[in-house]
Amino acid sequence: MNTGTDDRSQLTIDYRNATADAVGSEHGVSAAMLEEIAPTVVAEHTRIMTEHAAGEQRWMDLPDNRALADELVAFAGDARDRYRDYVLIGIGGSSLGAIATIQALTNPWRNLQPDERRDGPRFFVLDNPDPEKVRATLDVVDLPNTLINVVTKSGQTAETMANFLVARAALEAAVGSDQSRRQIVATTDPKDGLLRQLADQEGYRAFPVPPGVDGRQTVLSAVGMLPAALCGIDIHALLAGAAAMRTRASGPDVRENPAYLLAAVSYLADTRLGKSILVTMPYADALFGMADWFRQLWAESLGKRLAITGEEVFAGQTPVKALGAIDQHSQIQLYTEGPNDKLIALVGVDQYRARVEVSDPPAGIPDLAYLRGAELGQLLDRERLATAWALTSAARPNLTITMPEITAAAIGELFYLHQLQTVMAGALYNVNPFGQPGVEAGKNATYALMGRAGYEELRRELTRANTGEGRFVVAPG
Ligand code: PA5
Repeated sequence: MNTGTDDRSQLTIDYRNATADAVGSEHGVSAAMLEEIAPTVVAEHTRIMTEHAAGEQRWMDLPDNRALADELVAFAGDARDRYRDYVLIGIGGSSLGAIATIQALTNPWRNLQPDERRDGPRFFVLDNPDPEKVRATLDVVDLPNTLINVVTKSGQTAETMANFLVARAALEAAVGSDQSRRQIVATTDPKDGLLRQLADQEGYRAFPVPPGVDGRQTVLSAVGMLPAALCGIDIHALLAGAAAMRTRASGPDVRENPAYLLAAVSYLADTRLGKSILVTMPYADALFGMADWFRQLWAESLGKRLAITGEEVFAGQTPVKALGAIDQHSQIQLYTEGPNDKLIALVGVDQYRARVEVSDPPAGIPDLAYLRGAELGQLLDRERLATAWALTSAARPNLTITMPEITAAAIGELFYLHQLQTVMAGALYNVNPFGQPGVEAGKNATYALMGRAGYEELRRELTRANTGEGRFVVAPG
């Protein structure tokens, strides 16, 4: 049994099936391409490290914040005894990391376990302002015994603030105004924003979203670590895993540094080989949330209209999530025989945390005999190998990231690996991987449409744009 507290990196990255040797020069990355890009990677590595030394790239320091981790563990220890339910309210970078971590490292039916067997409160997320889900969640939680954690870096995102105001009112109605304030924790900017203002005004306990770090890079801060600690996850092991990957991925050589290698292979596959889609396909239900978290990171960081140098580039590779083996029965037909426009990253696990042997098939059905003595994890892993083989045989480039076991340390490693991969990919695409002007445009339009003060001009523009002729509208008769 792997305890997950090892401070050495444990992930394996095998990109042989993404090379020209395996899938041909039309579809695979060649040694010459990597050779060619290596000096750029070295130069960008130097720039990133220089920026870090100058106080930028602050996301790299998050694994070191042990004092904060101690504080979160202490807070969570107390709250785990006190609360039956925990509701996280946040969206995008303010919830995906926590969801991924908790899905990876806790029992899949955690909320259905009896209270005495579950390590901490039941976990619910309000991200979408979907009235049906919000109503159902508030109906099912035990409000007098519920901790609400509202998470927003900007302190003003409409979805989060609306869901929070609804939940806050429900809590107040259940326990009264004074007590409700004690059951709310805010994770937000330490100084700025509407939530910070409200937290100060109402006296909520608050934890910081680190300034200078984008929402999607905050999983290793209080944003992701408080929910993890509340659900009984060893956050020190998570941070140690991230630090182990940071050490391993500290060199400038594209062939040695796993994050830079993944960045270069994806970038080359997209820009030289027409692989404009990057599929992440874990072979473990527990890792599906990680694929979702990575999808946001890759999309928001690289999907940019402007290059750093100012010209229009419309950069980015579309990230897609798939789940093995389920999507072998849904997506793999397309991936092996449809357009050859994808790089597929499989994620494997050497040893699953449960061992389930297949019971002997009844005599008289000889075609099921091959399952005699089989084990489900072995079947799932062989399906991964079979998929890698099928993809490679069809000249579809693919690579595999393997972890020995799904542990807090391995998940911390994967978080750090993908974050550094994304920053280097931004450098190769010559775009700024930080900031999200496209997201902000939609947020501002929402404020305008909802009548927020200060957005009147945008509201007029939107209203004009929405009142064209109805020629393309098909309405019920
Ligand atoms: O990565 C990002 O910055 C975004 O996805 C944000 O996390 C998301 O828009 C939510 O923003 P906020 O945390 O300010 O509520």
